[in-house]
Amino acid sequence: MIGVFDSGFGGLTVLKPIMDLLPEYDYVYLGDNARAPYGNHSEKTIREYTEQAINHLFGQGVKLIIIACNTASTNALSWLQKEYLDGENETERKILGVTIPTAEYVVKVSKTKRIGLVGTKATINSKKYEAEVAKLSKDIKLYSKACPLLVPLIEENWHHRPEAISILKKYLRPLKHSNIDTLILGCTHYPLMYKYFEKHMGKNVTIVQSGVITANSLKDYLIRHPEIESKITKNKKRKFQTTDCPVSMKNFIEKYFGIMISRPEKVKIGKK
Ligand code: DGL
Repeated sequence: MIGVFDSGFGGLTVLKPIMDLLPEYDYVYLGDNARAPYGNHSEKTIREYTEQAINHLFGQGVKLIIIACNTASTNALSWLQKEYLDGENETERKILGVTIPTAEYVVKVSKTKRIGLVGTKATINSKKYEAEVAKLSKDIKLYSKACPLLVPLIEENWHHRPEAISILKKYLRPLKHSNIDTLILGCTHYPLMYKYFEKHMGKNVTIVQSGVITANSLKDYLIRHPEIESKITKNKKRKFQTTDCPVSMKNFIEKYFGIMISRPEKVKIGKK
């Protein structure tokens, strides 16, 4: 099984393109809705929660985990790869995230080398995107902006309202003045406001979301790593798990992603 983890519902924007591209595998999606949003928490708390989620997924026989959540990818992934899987046989289990594939992609597509990034406070404060982009190119300038009000607005289904759009415009104002040609939507929820980002940034800015990029990068990874690929079960099973309300998860998935699913399972993760 492949595990896909997010703090809440947003990771579906990553799971969907992965399932579309690689339908043959079994998937379990875990949303830690009871403790979301992660974006305003400290790095220590994000690491603690993410480690508990990872433990929960590996405990179900998952061989490969994709941390879809940008906040967890930027604040916890490298730490988990070092502290958690260190010393373990590399061929047994693997944890991947969204930051590196997205950084690799934007470095390739940006012509002016001026790139914008929007995300939660924790993602922006981590400076992880800056670090990954700098490893790939010395000339890139990254302009970032935390947009903490967008996730609650999207979760409340308020994101098509004029109030939400005017908040978005305010967040985007400094980026519009930075002459960027590429904007990373560094949060799993933001693709649900994609059309507004596109409209307000204008035709000259390419809006980049992590879902399809991560799916393509996962496909490559599986080709390059048959020792992991061969351990992943392929019966097209899909399992959805949440730490909060299964009905809300089912409604959200069916409404936004058009996938009909059976009732998600409510699970407990971490110390209770
Ligand atoms: N899933 C988170 C992310 O991609 C957004 C929601 C949160 O703050 O937990 O950053």
